[in-house]
Amino acid sequence: MKRFILSIALSSLICSPLAFAGDKIDAEKLASYRSAIKELGGALKSELMAAKKAGGAIQVLTVCNTKAAPISVAVSEKVGLTIKRTSLKPRNAKNVPDDWEKAVLEQFEQRKTQGEASKTLEFHEVIEKDGQRQLRYMKAIRTAAPCLTCHGSEIDQKIQDKLNELYPEDKATGYEAGDLRGAFSITEILP
Ligand code: HEC
Repeated sequence: MKRFILSIALSSLICSPLAFAGDKIDAEKLASYRSAIKELGGALKSELMAAKKAGGAIQVLTVCNTKAAPISVAVSEKVGLTIKRTSLKPRNAKNVPDDWEKAVLEQFEQRKTQGEASKTLEFHEVIEKDGQRQLRYMKAIRTAAPCLTCHGSEIDQKIQDKLNELYPEDKATGYEAGDLRGAFSITEILP
């Protein structure tokens, strides 16, 4: 089984500087979004590190499967925002982007093609949806080398078997290091 260094990958996912494209957003809100993403990233990381210690990649995969969603919900409730992960090629069908998220993910791909660094790929906008005014914010998640254990092209057979079992419609393979894997997405309902 391939070894992977999840901690390095996850810290690259968590510790990147933020910058905004588009309209201005007030600094306090920006700070709260930053810390919400940090909080979710940190919570995922500690679960995954514990799983890795306990049993390696299959254990980590199982934890991703059972804990990623409840951890996202718990952090969302704690910070009073809806925060999730999404992707143009999702593994879990529950992470399929909505129309706004899909457009922003496509915009991120374009901006990356035009040479922008993954770390600065962010976007926010106020939209009307479901009769509400929503402040929507997204920040790209980059694929690092260790992510390829479960998201790359040469996946260990045992891991692939487990993925097939848990995610028969998995689209989240075939990535290369440096590709965009997806994004964090925050929704705040405005008064
Ligand atoms: C041990 C296997 C494993 C590794 C390593 C791994 N992932 Fe995943 N990843 C998963 C599983 C399983 C899911 C589905 C989680 C769920 O059911 O919500 C997932 C889901 C995701 C999602 C949510 C969108 C989707 O596709 O459903 C993102 C974003 C993501 N991974 C990014 C990463 C990044 C970035 C890395 C490297 C830092 C990484 N993953 C490493 C197994 C892994």
